[in-house]
Amino acid sequence: MRCSLTGSYVLILSVVGVSQVVQASPVAQESRASRTSSYSYGSFTYTQVTSTRYATSLSSPLSFATPFAPAFSEVSTLLPSNVTYTTYDLHPSQTAAPDGQYGQSAYAALWANLSYTSAPPFTTTVTPIAVPSSELIYPPTLYNRIYSADLKLPSDFIWGVAASAWQIEGGLQLEGRGPSALDTIGAIQSNDSLSDANIADLSYFMYKEDIARLAAIGVPYLSFSISWPRIVPFGVAGSPINTEGLQHYDDVINACLEYGITPIVTLNHVDFPLSQLSDFSSLSENFLYYAKQVMTRYADRVPYWVTFNEPNIGVGTSFSEWNDLTHVLTAHAAVYHWYKDELQGTGQITIKFANNLAVPLDPSNSSHVDAALRYQDFILGIMGNPLFLGEQFPSEALNTPNLNLTPLTQDQISTIHGTIDFWAFDPYVAQFASPAPAGISACAANQSDSAWPECVTATMIQADGWLMGDMSNAYASIAPQYVRQQLGYVWDTFKPSGILVSEFGFNPFADSQRAGDAQRYDLERTLYYQDFLEEILKAIYEDGVNVIGTLAWSYLDNNEFGSYENQYGMQSVNRTDGSWRRQYKRSLFDYVDFFHEHVESA
Ligand SMILES: *[C@@H]1O[C@H](CO)[C@@H](O)[C@H](O)[C@H]1NC(C)=O
Ligand SMILES: *[C@@H]1O[C@H](CO)[C@@H](O)[C@H](O)[C@H]1NC(C)=O
Ligand SMILES: *[C@@H]1O[C@H](CO)[C@@H](O)[C@H](O)[C@H]1NC(C)=O
Ligand SMILES: *[C@@H]1O[C@H](CO)[C@@H](O)[C@H](O)[C@H]1NC(C)=O
Ligand SMILES: *[C@@H]1O[C@H](CO)[C@@H](O)[C@H](O)[C@H]1NC(C)=O
Ligand SMILES: *[C@@H]1O[C@H](CO)[C@@H](O)[C@H](O)[C@H]1NC(C)=O
Repeated sequence: MRCSLTGSYVLILSVVGVSQVVQASPVAQESRASRTSSYSYGSFTYTQVTSTRYATSLSSPLSFATPFAPAFSEVSTLLPSNVTYTTYDLHPSQTAAPDGQYGQSAYAALWANLSYTSAPPFTTTVTPIAVPSSELIYPPTLYNRIYSADLKLPSDFIWGVAASAWQIEGGLQLEGRGPSALDTIGAIQSNDSLSDANIADLSYFMYKEDIARLAAIGVPYLSFSISWPRIVPFGVAGSPINTEGLQHYDDVINACLEYGITPIVTLNHVDFPLSQLSDFSSLSENFLYYAKQVMTRYADRVPYWVTFNEPNIGVGTSFSEWNDLTHVLTAHAAVYHWYKDELQGTGQITIKFANNLAVPLDPSNSSHVDAALRYQDFILGIMGNPLFLGEQFPSEALNTPNLNLTPLTQDQISTIHGTIDFWAFDPYVAQFASPAPAGISACAANQSDSAWPECVTATMIQADGWLMGDMSNAYASIAPQYVRQQLGYVWDTFKPSGILVSEFGFNPFADSQRAGDAQRYDLERTLYYQDFLEEILKAIYEDGVNVIGTLAWSYLDNNEFGSYENQYGMQSVNRTDGSWRRQYKRSLFDYVDFFHEHVESA
């Protein structure tokens, strides 16, 4: 270096294969104020400030010393003996000749009101090619970031990435898949490969490549979801099981292990079988029927299971009434009890909750504090109370006129309580809460109030007029200042054994309109992740909260429920040039780097 800086800066010197963090001493900081510069001329020379550093791949393959459940051959007797195993092909002409309740024509009829106009450009599994080393070169080092290098994470910290079936798979009408609730969005939204969920990222055929790329850059955990209607096309208990669906996810799990990645499996990520939507009272029976099929087969190789994704915000979208949440709790508990007691699984099971923490707009105003707490009760207490505390639904919800939420019986509470091994939630950002304009009780009594039933006004603008953080293309923002309170709220309220951040992410404004190179240099996304992770370290070390892992949303730009504009990916997917090529963005390198810095070796 030509000029030596002292003071409170942290310099990160990057040399090949090594990132060295130099922290200025407190003594140097104290003397900074009194320092004066002394200027002098020298002889100018160029200095090389970048050096080439390569990602470290996972060492494959992975095998677990003890399986997490008995092998399928030992537990297949837990399945009903009269199940039909078959597959389906979608030919519109088959609607003409009826061939029984669950025949090919009945299958075609399931799709009668849904049509995708574009077809996937290929329909067979792509064999992955080794990621060329030129793609594994680290981006320029983040300058002057303050890394708390001395704060370590345990070697079993669950760090990785996440995505869900419908958002990346494509091939929605292939290999016997039945229609899902989400297809009603997908089918009407598009006519072309740029926006059609029937194509998406083609991950149904490129999953091996996706997994190989994560292993090449060194990501050890992958959270994905199984498409329920690929396993049970008609969605109902007793209906046929699709063998091609079973085979597919068996392959996905094996590919993870082959490349050294630990799978985290979600059984349902919003894509309920279409038939379920009309009546959730049969959810428990249908969900258990499906779960048994996949868990008997895969549970030996899967340490972590998620039953449902974000059901706590599903009323009004997936669910038509609040009592449907009781059906979700019951279905979850049924699977939990069956997995632990019948299958004798030793893995862990949870539900993922949505929650952007409500913090009072004015913390000194008790009505704002009440509004924030009421919001949290509606979002988290509604399921967290029975699951974690063995308690009734929050009184704020039960006392809201016309909500039509039936209190749980004591029997239901005992069945549900404790059927969850750790807390998992998706805290993208926080928001400021105050009472709805009419006031909470007037609003609660007025079903036509637009803020009903929560009756809370939420905003991203703090009381003094500033935005809480740099805004994204949607609602998230770079606001690390509330991460510790998000974790603290859950920790102190529900007292879980541990907390998994099961999704967090950022979609930069107008990202999809930028050139590919600019999209890949995603500095905002990187700042979001680095700031968030630094705050998690403080939650662990300063607040005593047991955060057991973080999963970034998402490892690919994908279909954000009808939009490809909201890009959350740490990899781009070229959906315009016909290549479907994935490319790493800088945020994925920096994310991996953070954990290499902090996670202790086993
Ligand atoms: C399969 O067996 C179960 C339990 O005996 C029964 O309730 C169900 O109706 C049978 N299903 C079919 C398709 O035969
Ligand atoms: C398709 O729409 C028609 C008319 O609304 C309805 O009667 C039928 O039940 C629908 N079919 C399916 C499979 O949803
Ligand atoms: C897709 O094409 C159909 C028929 O050509 C048309 O009615 C519909 O509006 C188109 N949808 C979009 C989103 O362009
Ligand atoms: C507290 O908040 C309420 C609702 O926003 C407002 O009407 C009231 O004036 C505030 N009280 C104080 C003391 O600021
Ligand atoms: C209920 O809310 C609606 C919509 O804001 C409003 O028009 C109406 O006056 C409210 N009713 C009462 C009784 O406050
Ligand atoms: C897709 O590929 C085209 C042609 O190579 C390129 O111009 C474009 O920037 C790429 N898009 C992305 C997001 O990488």
